[in-house]
Amino acid sequence: MSNQSSDSVKRLQDLATMVSLAKRRGFVFQSSEIYGGLNSCWDYGPLGAQLKLNVKRAWWNSMVRRDDVVGLDAAILMHPTVWKASGHVDGFSDPLVDCKDCKTRFRADNTDSYINDKKCPNCGSKNLTEERKFNLMFKTHMGPTEDAGAVVYLRPETAQGHYVNYENILTSSRKKIPFGIAAIGKSFRNEITPGNFIFRTREFEQMEMQYFVKPGQDAEWYEKWREARWTFYKKIGIREENLRWKPHGPDELAHYAKAAVDVQYLFPFGWQELEGVHNRGDFDLTQHTKFSGKKLDYFEEATKERYVPYAIETAVGCDRLVLVVLCDAYREEISVDEESGKPDTRVVLGFHPDLAPVKAAVLPLSKKAELQGPSMKLRDELAQEFEVQYDDSQSIGKRYRRQDEIGTPYCITVDFETLNDQKVTIRHRDTMKQDRVALTEVSNYVAAGLRNFSK
Ligand code: GAP
Repeated sequence: MSNQSSDSVKRLQDLATMVSLAKRRGFVFQSSEIYGGLNSCWDYGPLGAQLKLNVKRAWWNSMVRRDDVVGLDAAILMHPTVWKASGHVDGFSDPLVDCKDCKTRFRADNTDSYINDKKCPNCGSKNLTEERKFNLMFKTHMGPTEDAGAVVYLRPETAQGHYVNYENILTSSRKKIPFGIAAIGKSFRNEITPGNFIFRTREFEQMEMQYFVKPGQDAEWYEKWREARWTFYKKIGIREENLRWKPHGPDELAHYAKAAVDVQYLFPFGWQELEGVHNRGDFDLTQHTKFSGKKLDYFEEATKERYVPYAIETAVGCDRLVLVVLCDAYREEISVDEESGKPDTRVVLGFHPDLAPVKAAVLPLSKKAELQGPSMKLRDELAQEFEVQYDDSQSIGKRYRRQDEIGTPYCITVDFETLNDQKVTIRHRDTMKQDRVALTEVSNYVAAGLRNFSK
């Protein structure tokens, strides 16, 4: 492999390539696949679960390691009046139309053939129902009775947990305004048109933060949070040319928002929303005061003023960010092998090392017992610090390629020379450069490399 340099690099062209890699390598599987799958539901396999955890950790640390943000883990099921107060019972719906001929059901507000000609997007028929409002919240019942009094909802956003805990957190954490609450958790929406793999699903995880500020300082904090979020994406290695801002026009604003802007990413299927930064004003706290009868305001010692704080929200889907990380990391390096003259493609997921599900792979050159001993010992030692894989099957070239395809930054080869010189070969994922390093130094070498990584 070392007698090769890449002549050209191809980025991800289509989502199908990623769906296939994700399944083949154990990142993401169709949910309940042995039963034919469940539409729009996905399971994270061994590498996907670790990748997702790393994405959450990166987001969580970027939030709660600040002095002015604290964490929260609120329940999915909440008092049903929360959703009355928040406006979701009355306002969280999409306009829906059915085709009476082919029975296709579609959204009226984002289907071009309907918007332009009032035609079915599937069969072109104009024999359509009126637009109806379809509420996106999943309903269920709490306890043994299924009457209307027992209705509860699966939360469609985590944000309401932040608002209903505002007072508890303010008093218990002794924070002063401005301060924020960050949470990661599952949300559910009965989307009419889910799709594009893990981009839009009915069950998903959100990473949301509400930052409470004095009215009048909201515009300034809205800008600061826009900047902080952009910096976060750069820090986790997302290529800036694939990110852009998309402000919401007045007719696109959610029912709670005074101002909103999306971070969009250039997916293989086009520019789409990744995250929303919203100025929610005092909408939510005021509504909860109205419906609960509990005052949710703030007394500012310094000025002796009492006010209802405004909330600046940052909201990103964890699954959607995992898709961004996968798409952005993918590259095919195409080269000609100098010995055989044959074209060759190396597929690499060039993850930022903080996100890489496996940090290092230990690869004994042969399955012989004399190499297995020191290799396993090295694996166990490294596993105390990082996620490590041990692989002793197939040729070393194939094993390198497998690790490249799952984005492992370092491959460590234990060979027969190791038995004499107590050294191993460490190969770098991105440059394929190889270094000979003493066994006792491997852990430090890898740790320093992960820390000092730059794209
Ligand atoms: N609390 C505000 C809120 O929920 P949103 O724009 O509806 O705002 C925030 O959602 C983020 O959650 C989106 O930018 C997206 O990343 C993610 N998200 C929303 N619906 C989703 C879905 N059906 N599947 C996957 N992610 C979703």
